[in-house]
Amino acid sequence: MLPPLGAVGLSLALLLRPVLSFEYTTTNNSTPHDNTSNCTCYVINSGASSNTPEYFSYYRFYDFRNLADRPGQYTTAPPLLNDSQDAGTQAVRDNGVLNSSAWNTDWGIQNWSKPSTEDFPTAMNNSPANVYLSQNDDTNNAFTWLTLRTSRLDDYQNSAEIENEQKNLMHCSMRMHGRVIGAAGAVAGFFTFYDDNNESDVEILTNDPKDMIRYTNQPSVDKKGNVIQVASAAPTDLPKWDDWQTHRIDWLPKNSYWFLDDKQVAANTYSVPRKPSNLVINMWSDGGSWSGNMSVGDSAEFQIQWIELIFNTSGPVTGPRKSDKREIVDLGNLEKRKQNKGCQVVCKVDGVKNLGTPEIVSVAAASGISVNMGVVLVAGFLSVWVGL
Ligand SMILES: *[C@@H]1O[C@H](CO)[C@@H](O)[C@H](O)[C@H]1NC(C)=O
Ligand SMILES: *[C@@H]1O[C@H](CO)[C@@H](O)[C@H](O)[C@H]1NC(C)=O
Ligand SMILES: *[C@@H]1O[C@H](CO)[C@@H](O)[C@H](O)[C@H]1NC(C)=O
Ligand SMILES: *[C@@H]1O[C@H](CO)[C@@H](O)[C@H](O)[C@H]1NC(C)=O
Ligand SMILES: *[C@@H]1O[C@H](CO)[C@@H](O)[C@H](O)[C@H]1NC(C)=O
Ligand SMILES: *[C@@H]1O[C@H](CO)[C@@H](O)[C@H](O)[C@H]1NC(C)=O
Ligand SMILES: *[C@@H]1O[C@H](CO)[C@@H](O)[C@H](O)[C@H]1NC(C)=O
Ligand SMILES: *[C@@H]1O[C@H](CO)[C@@H](O)[C@H](O)[C@H]1NC(C)=O
Ligand SMILES: *[C@@H]1O[C@H](CO)[C@@H](O)[C@H](O)[C@H]1NC(C)=O
Repeated sequence: MLPPLGAVGLSLALLLRPVLSFEYTTTNNSTPHDNTSNCTCYVINSGASSNTPEYFSYYRFYDFRNLADRPGQYTTAPPLLNDSQDAGTQAVRDNGVLNSSAWNTDWGIQNWSKPSTEDFPTAMNNSPANVYLSQNDDTNNAFTWLTLRTSRLDDYQNSAEIENEQKNLMHCSMRMHGRVIGAAGAVAGFFTFYDDNNESDVEILTNDPKDMIRYTNQPSVDKKGNVIQVASAAPTDLPKWDDWQTHRIDWLPKNSYWFLDDKQVAANTYSVPRKPSNLVINMWSDGGSWSGNMSVGDSAEFQIQWIELIFNTSGPVTGPRKSDKREIVDLGNLEKRKQNKGCQVVCKVDGVKNLGTPEIVSVAAASGISVNMGVVLVAGFLSVWVGL
């Protein structure tokens, strides 16, 4: 005989509890996990041969994998908007998480719009209704993710964008574990942004073959509207973007490197951004030649399990609290003086036991005497290297 429905729900809930039911916690501190409280800098492997250590002062891990309270939660997407709804003023559905103070400390859900033009014939309206949580509801391997959706209405393209509130990144390694599914004619973007001439992109075009990704430093079009070939790489034969993959941009002072699942897939020295920037994620279309034209009634989704950000800043790490869309303020060199005290405890972020929990790889020998980052870089090449 079958147990009553409620009992099934309860036992499922108990079964899933160890996997699910975490809260979204803000990462507004430089040491988001207990085990990393002593890290004073973070090292990654980058460079042309992916074996040059690069050091950063700050680390954050944004985890969207454990945000459901129970089985069945977040398993249906919010309904698509219709033409008579005002996209920009819609509330976010999963407001317990996506409008919590923790979330709002880290992220801004955008609602700006742009009109149609001759080159971009579909008007575009960002809506909080297109940013929501999803769950696979698999009892053996339950997890959640953040979804950004775009859909084509008769009158306009309904799109989605979130921006990180750390507005003064000055070089970083940013990683995102995600996938893209749905109709042709959309762009999933994961990028650094200051302005149209200081922007480094990963873009997945749903018009493209599933083994192709676009890696671009802007501007990619000159003042006359001609494509600048050197701005963009479009490698093929990559792992397919509709499966879960880890996408990564290393933004360094003179070089950009792009990785897919830890393998370097593109590099560029053209127009490497030189302004303090922030991390932006979006899912959009405007009917133009880059995004393509989505058919009315269709939609596509950008799904993200986690984001890892290893970075330096221009000015204090706490930064300004700017809610204005894409506004960045250069705060000067206040923090740099403090950072010059050097790095005493070097931590690695790749190849760690728990993703998102950096581990110590080297500690300055004499207590009270700090090692300058430059020295660590040389010494680190030998000692840190072993640990990586
Ligand atoms: C951090 O440093 C303190 C004091 O030096 C030490 O007691 C503690 O064990 C360290 N924690 C970790 C996780 O290394
Ligand atoms: C990050 O900042 C530290 C401290 O100023 C510096 O030593 C390091 O080289 C910087 N990293 C990059 C990639 O520029
Ligand atoms: C659009 O959706 C809203 C909210 O669900 C509904 O009230 C309205 O009737 C819909 N309009 C049309 C034209 O379908
Ligand atoms: C964006 O959201 C704010 C706050 O809800 C609202 O006041 C504003 O009108 C919205 N803007 C657009 C373009 O819908
Ligand atoms: C977030 O919650 C506030 C009320 O606390 C509400 O005014 C605002 O519209 C909500 N934002 C979104 C995007 O739903
Ligand atoms: C982050 O935390 C610091 C203190 O730890 C605080 O001063 C700052 O206002 C916070 N930033 C945001 C965006 O909440
Ligand atoms: C960055 O912005 C500045 C100021 O707008 C501009 O002069 C520069 O060309 C932009 N791009 C790069 C790569 O510096
Ligand atoms: C774009 O798509 C719409 C709706 O599917 C269609 O009516 C229009 O002709 C298309 N435009 C172009 C340039 O393909
Ligand atoms: C904590 O960090 C240490 C290195 O400092 C590492 O050996 C250990 O595995 C880490 N523990 C966890 C749970 O990540």
